[in-house]
Amino acid sequence: MAWKTIDRNQPVIDPNAPPLLSEALCEKIRSFFPRYETKRAVLLPALHIVQHEHGHVNYQAMKEVAELLEIHPSDVMDVVSFYTHFSSHPRGRKTILVCRSLSCELMGGKEVLETLKTQLGVDEHGTTADGRYTLMTEECLAACDHAPCMLVNERMHKGVNGDDVASILADSDNDKLAMPRSDLFDPPEHGAAELETTSDVAEMSEAK
Ligand code: FES
Repeated sequence: MAWKTIDRNQPVIDPNAPPLLSEALCEKIRSFFPRYETKRAVLLPALHIVQHEHGHVNYQAMKEVAELLEIHPSDVMDVVSFYTHFSSHPRGRKTILVCRSLSCELMGGKEVLETLKTQLGVDEHGTTADGRYTLMTEECLAACDHAPCMLVNERMHKGVNGDDVASILADSDNDKLAMPRSDLFDPPEHGAAELETTSDVAEMSEAK
């Protein structure tokens, strides 16, 4: 593979671009401040909020989040680039994450991935021509007892086999949850705290 050359003198953010984070979005992020001892600790909820709104967290959004949390932009980039859940560039409208860890691999995860590649006409990291799906793999999705698993956006599909792939792709609600996982990050007065127990939260996030 050829090395990609990056010209560090070229600005990656247009200095004249309008703010990407609306005041409402900033306010939602700020509402987490009282919950933590430092603003830095709000980084993960902030990134979830931004990605939920914009579909990805680009360089400009990273810089604006950094300003809001009073940390360095590289700290934000470290986190965005560490977690595959976050993306610095646009993906398809839905992201499919197929588990590639041991339990799923033993139970046929590879077949699911290959079937997806064939039916979507893309390779791993590819986005379909209509912009509908981006296909990726991920380490354990924490549902090993239902292997093989895949996520469509935030919705988990368990015990999937190659024959299920076509019907999952054809279902326009294949990513719908009763409560988006990102809403679980809502401040106590608006979201998760209204649920009485952690099992309530888990149940809501699993609901289809
Ligand atoms: S190994 Fe696939 S969910 Fe854990």
